[in-house]
Amino acid sequence: MITHDILVVGGGLSGLSAALNADPSLSLAIISRVHPLRSHSVAAQGGINAALGNNPKGRDDDWEKHAFDTIKGSDYLSDQDAAELMCREAVPTIYGLEHSGVPFSRFPGGVIAQRPFGGAGFPRTCYAADRTGLVIAHTLYEQSLRKKVKVYDEALVTKLVVENGRCVGVVIYDLATGFITPIRARAVIFATGGYGRVYFKTTNAYVNHGSGIGMAYRAGVALKDMEFVQFHPTSLYPKNILITEGARGEGGFLLNNKGYRFMADYAPSAMELAPRDIVARSIQTEVDKGNGFESEYVHLDLRHLGEKTIDKRLPSVREICIKFAGVDPVEKPIPILPAQHYSMGGIDVDVRCASSLPGFFAAGECACVSVHGANRLGGNSLLETVVFGKIAGREASNYVNGLERKDGSERTLLDEAVAEKEKVDAWMDRTSGKMAHHLLNDLKIVMSDKVGIFRTKKQLQEALDKIRAIREDYRRAFISGQCLRYSQAVVNLVEFGYMVDLTEAITLGALLREETRGSHYRIDHPKRDDANWLKHTLVSLKDGEPEVVYRPVQITKYEPQERKY
Ligand code: FUM
Repeated sequence: MITHDILVVGGGLSGLSAALNADPSLSLAIISRVHPLRSHSVAAQGGINAALGNNPKGRDDDWEKHAFDTIKGSDYLSDQDAAELMCREAVPTIYGLEHSGVPFSRFPGGVIAQRPFGGAGFPRTCYAADRTGLVIAHTLYEQSLRKKVKVYDEALVTKLVVENGRCVGVVIYDLATGFITPIRARAVIFATGGYGRVYFKTTNAYVNHGSGIGMAYRAGVALKDMEFVQFHPTSLYPKNILITEGARGEGGFLLNNKGYRFMADYAPSAMELAPRDIVARSIQTEVDKGNGFESEYVHLDLRHLGEKTIDKRLPSVREICIKFAGVDPVEKPIPILPAQHYSMGGIDVDVRCASSLPGFFAAGECACVSVHGANRLGGNSLLETVVFGKIAGREASNYVNGLERKDGSERTLLDEAVAEKEKVDAWMDRTSGKMAHHLLNDLKIVMSDKVGIFRTKKQLQEALDKIRAIREDYRRAFISGQCLRYSQAVVNLVEFGYMVDLTEAITLGALLREETRGSHYRIDHPKRDDANWLKHTLVSLKDGEPEVVYRPVQITKYEPQERKY
């Protein structure tokens, strides 16, 4: 049986960072659904935050100001010790990346360039034009080749295996062979990313189904703060491709159909650089009031930046707009609208990336430490992947090194693989029922219509009922083909089961949280309510049903205040 000390699931930035920082004397492998350089991390455009103080307007910046902005941006739901840890680690992390070979953009004189981003008191977002995720991923991947990290790609993890209360490995579906088989590991790190594909409009890649989050939930680990879903203000109409916040950081304006810079009405001081929750709501409000174009979008105007700046700082944005919308931003404003972008919630882990399940760790977007609370600031997600990926690699190594060398039993792992195979056989044996793409379509309709930027009790209750009905349909799902090699139908149905679970957790958390905080806007409860709701939501499966409990937020020195921008 294939056995490793540490198995990292996911080959994006969190997974690569974990692998590169694990104890090299241990046997480690990355397993990924796609080649690491096809992971969604490569789509991150605008940058990574650290208080380097390189921008002439940011000389007074320091990590504590970064922490304050992060906590305020989170609408005071982030755990302040975690936010402080991330922001303190940010500066050495950027220099570590630089020394590994990341080709950051530079200011004259050679220091790493930094641009303004939303919700930040100083320009502290380091970038490589608008391809920051891509170049960091390439660099870390090159480092992983140098260190000969073993990678199994094109393999879908279908289940976490638990024996005697600890994680002992996973079951995988190997796409090339069609085999469903176990991999034994003394520690498993999930770096499986977010779940954007449960919405129609998302900036996320097709691989972002969130099944890792669902697998942890099924294995008994709680999901934290799932109701907080980030909608990025600027996705390209009509394709929903990310148009980086860096475009506004470089000075882009948002205009409604009257040519008015409407952010003046919503965030008069920060304008287009208010945090994402506020900008996304403002755009949606303008569209809903009839101030949009074709009842769908507004304009992001970059023309005043000029061709030279656009080509130097935002080359991919220009290319994407020309190729996918037929609009050259040098000449015309870009049609944009909000789209799902990020999950603040995720697998409940502590600042060591450890979950409640011994041997199981998680980092990056699939995890909730929590540093982002109710709303993440742009540029903090790349930072989180590298900082907490590194911590996960080290902590999983410490865990393995402290274990008596007792592996999970082959019997348990094989039994779990057989049970997974039987599930697939049952789908293939049926000749009728719902197919994966129909089920996913039904789920997307519910999430997009009822669990969006603006929410009400009625909509959320309807969504919950519908999600539960969709789960019944899933129990009767079928696959028409019989071939197991590269079966997208198998992949989709495996992932779909987990998507139903995680959307139930999102919706239930949102229904119960009767306040507005960060990205969670309740029309029927439009105010933040610290007296009752300054707490994390934890949803766990108990006897197959979701159970919700709450946990206090860690406050260090930043007393919650009203957010004003
Ligand atoms: O807008 C962006 O470039 C996205 C950055 C982020 O999500 O942190």
